[in-house]
Amino acid sequence: MTPEEFRIHGHQLIDWIADYRATLAGRPVMAATKPKEITNQLPTSPPQDPEPFEQILADLDTVVLPGLSHWQHPRFFGYFPSNGLLAGVLGDLASTGLGVLGLAWQSSPAITEIEDVTLDWVRQMVGLSINWHGVIQDTASTSTLVALITARERITNYALARGGLQAEPKPLIIYVSAQSHSSVDKAALLAGFGRDNIRLVPTDADLAMRPAALASMIEADLAANLLPCAIVATTGTTATTAIDPVQAIADLASQHNLWLHVDAAMAGSAMILPECRWMWSGIEQADSLVLNAHKWLGVPFDCSLYFVRDPEHLVRVMSTNPSFLQSSVDGQVRNLRDWGIPLGRRFRALKLWFILREQGVSGLQSRLRRDLANAQTLAAVVAATPNWRVVAPVPLQTVCIRHEPDGLTGEALDTHTKAWAQAVNESGEAYLTPATLDGRWMVRISIGALPTEAGDIAQTWATIRRIAESS
Ligand SMILES: Cc1ncc(COP(=O)(O)O)c(C=O)c1O
Repeated sequence: MTPEEFRIHGHQLIDWIADYRATLAGRPVMAATKPKEITNQLPTSPPQDPEPFEQILADLDTVVLPGLSHWQHPRFFGYFPSNGLLAGVLGDLASTGLGVLGLAWQSSPAITEIEDVTLDWVRQMVGLSINWHGVIQDTASTSTLVALITARERITNYALARGGLQAEPKPLIIYVSAQSHSSVDKAALLAGFGRDNIRLVPTDADLAMRPAALASMIEADLAANLLPCAIVATTGTTATTAIDPVQAIADLASQHNLWLHVDAAMAGSAMILPECRWMWSGIEQADSLVLNAHKWLGVPFDCSLYFVRDPEHLVRVMSTNPSFLQSSVDGQVRNLRDWGIPLGRRFRALKLWFILREQGVSGLQSRLRRDLANAQTLAAVVAATPNWRVVAPVPLQTVCIRHEPDGLTGEALDTHTKAWAQAVNESGEAYLTPATLDGRWMVRISIGALPTEAGDIAQTWATIRRIAESS
């Protein structure tokens, strides 16, 4: 494809994306695709000869679109809000179009320096002190893995330079909430801690980690001659957006010299609202935190912001510094390959930079405030409706609900919950995610897609009631 052909097809594609976004509300939210339905439309071997680009674009309509659940739909309430802002789509396109790669500062200085500046902007936006230093990782899963590897290396005084974890005299222990995301468990396993050394700290009635239980577990491990290493607290758990008490947990962490990592993948976006910052009060005592800009903030996936208070320690653990990557300015710049796992880096900061400038802090704040208000309104309506229950506190934009018809309990209630949620999703009118909470099924309504207004929520609530109350 020549640059001139690219210009033509690029315009066609941008028009196509704009049409898609503008007409999305009229489509069913969830894909009705059956397994292998897409595969069966595609040739089993690669094209031997070039195909006209028009034909490739046409398949977006015939093959791809019918196989998508639409995350940017105004009645998408599944999982979490993500990916939406169009200024970020353009930033992503510009990043890819430039075709540059950040192996080192020198390999394309703007990649590093725009990341430096945008991350410092975000630091200020979420109210963190100047003691924090940020870097973009792909996902929260990677950020948390990096956190636990660096925690491991701090407590062992850089065991990686000796026999590694295998040569340590005592097992290292990690403390997580029973409500923490599966990526935390995965990170602990991949960082070599081992299943036996992951403690699941119980939660209270609001599903937040209980500091008293955490303290007892640490004491018990010390008494058993084990080595407590790190705590992962969550600001905004995945199931219900529960808020762990960071301050009390941080006090325990500093008392026992443990690494504290805060998983604010979801709720971190809300910290651009001063009225929400109580949710991570104590954060300045943490060692690391992750905030997924690709969630509610609206940046296209992937863009996970990882902040640390001791960058020298991070770099010491992550740096390998082969000779072909060294340059004469290394002492004056950040080489971001030493701030995480991959060597090569995409120009991810560009989409974040575009968004921060196109929206301004005020634009982002007013959208998040709209979503918070919509969640409160929905929660109040559900709570006031006979036989309906809001099953968890609603500090953010996720409302967890259950329909509890008279006399329906236990497995029968679970069957009913899963059935009405599936029927709503299959209706194409809205998309919700059922999940378990304390062993019982409930349904999460995660508000925050860009075009979702109060009217979309009222319409969805009417759909939910119609389907659930007649099934
Ligand atoms: C609290 C929390 N942590 C971590 C993750 C994992 O995020 P990622 O897909 O960026 O690894 C999620 C995703 O839903 C989440 O809600």
